Amino acid sequence: MPGDKSISHRALLFSSVAEGEVEIEGLLQAGDTLSTAGCLKGLGVRFEGDWRKLRVMGGGLEGFVEPDNVLDAGNSGTTARLLAGLLAGQPFASVLNGDASLRKRPMNRVAEPLRQMGAVMDGRREGSLLPFFIRGGKLHPISYRLPVPSAQVKSAVLLAGLFADGITEVQEKYPSRDHTERMLQHLGADISRGETSCRLKGKQKLHGDYIKVPGDISSAIFLLTAAVLAPEGELLIEEVGVNPTRIGAINVLKEMGAQIEIIHRREQSGEPMADILARGGKPLKGISIGEETIPSLVDEVPVLAVAALFARGYTEITGAGELRVKETDRLRALSLELSRLGAVVKEFPEGLVIEGGARLRGAACSSHGDHRIAMALAVAALFSEGETKIQGAESVDISFPGFFERLEEVTR
Ligand code: S3P
Repeated sequence: MPGDKSISHRALLFSSVAEGEVEIEGLLQAGDTLSTAGCLKGLGVRFEGDWRKLRVMGGGLEGFVEPDNVLDAGNSGTTARLLAGLLAGQPFASVLNGDASLRKRPMNRVAEPLRQMGAVMDGRREGSLLPFFIRGGKLHPISYRLPVPSAQVKSAVLLAGLFADGITEVQEKYPSRDHTERMLQHLGADISRGETSCRLKGKQKLHGDYIKVPGDISSAIFLLTAAVLAPEGELLIEEVGVNPTRIGAINVLKEMGAQIEIIHRREQSGEPMADILARGGKPLKGISIGEETIPSLVDEVPVLAVAALFARGYTEITGAGELRVKETDRLRALSLELSRLGAVVKEFPEGLVIEGGARLRGAACSSHGDHRIAMALAVAALFSEGETKIQGAESVDISFPGFFERLEEVTR
């Protein structure tokens, strides 16, 4: 599998503010992580080697230089939000922008706590949309309760907390992915954690020499779901990240009746990784997926919706309003595009109800420019009669370049 996107962003960002050189192995080389690397280059960070083993020349917390141009986060919410946290601590001005999709996504969720810490953050629509003007500087610590469960917001506050004198604290309602906490610890930071809270002491130096990035479970899940749906499917994927805050979709597929095993568990650079074996041929049943599990499968809802189409009975997904502010409105896109294939998917303000037992027919449909919608439609297309054409299929390059070749390889 290509490297985990969330961990790759963090490896690049955190190494660039560490003291000295960090070697990163297994980085995802895709649209989103190239955006992160491009922004860091704009801030004067130097990289050596190639993407299989990239060396980042960290300059410490004060190593960035004022960029002489706009920093472009492209399509990547993680780049924009995590970088905002680092920029909030810099004693200079920067402008952060993104593509048409990112310019529609809510940024106030990071701007608000960073303003509370003392940074100047302004943007369109009263400072809630990109492009953003950021003038950072002296920050003070805050104790912040996240209004929405979001690892990006949590991470932005913790990163800004590195520049503040004292203890920064973040609390959330349900645990979101904890890669930031794990990687900061791996790089030697003193950070204390509860299940839904985290405290970080400011002005700490990060040190480290090596980070290994596991394969991306959020990419693997498309192939694993295809294997589960194929009557004689069998697929083994090696070296995939199995962080408990990320494997909600595996748990859901198992609860639906799928045969999936996590084997050879081990840990590398503070992250659990394993091999995953999936087998098809077992009938699936519809289930309810509630608000408390959404953070652990927030990016996997599109492909789980496809699995639900072939289950017995209905699957109900609730408390998933966050999907409306991803790369596209994913609840809208799923109900619209899966319906084109003949599925019955009802859209609600905060979720979906999916009717199982579908018999899909290939049709022309659209990714809405969203990588995960494109890949979910491709999996649905495999189990539809006739041909499906996905407009905007190239969006897979954002997180999984080579996806269609891989899919072809495993379905031959
Ligand atoms: C991510 C967090 C999630 C996820 C995104 C990556 C991260 O977003 O959807 O793809 O790397 O922190 P939110 O923090 O907005 O939930």
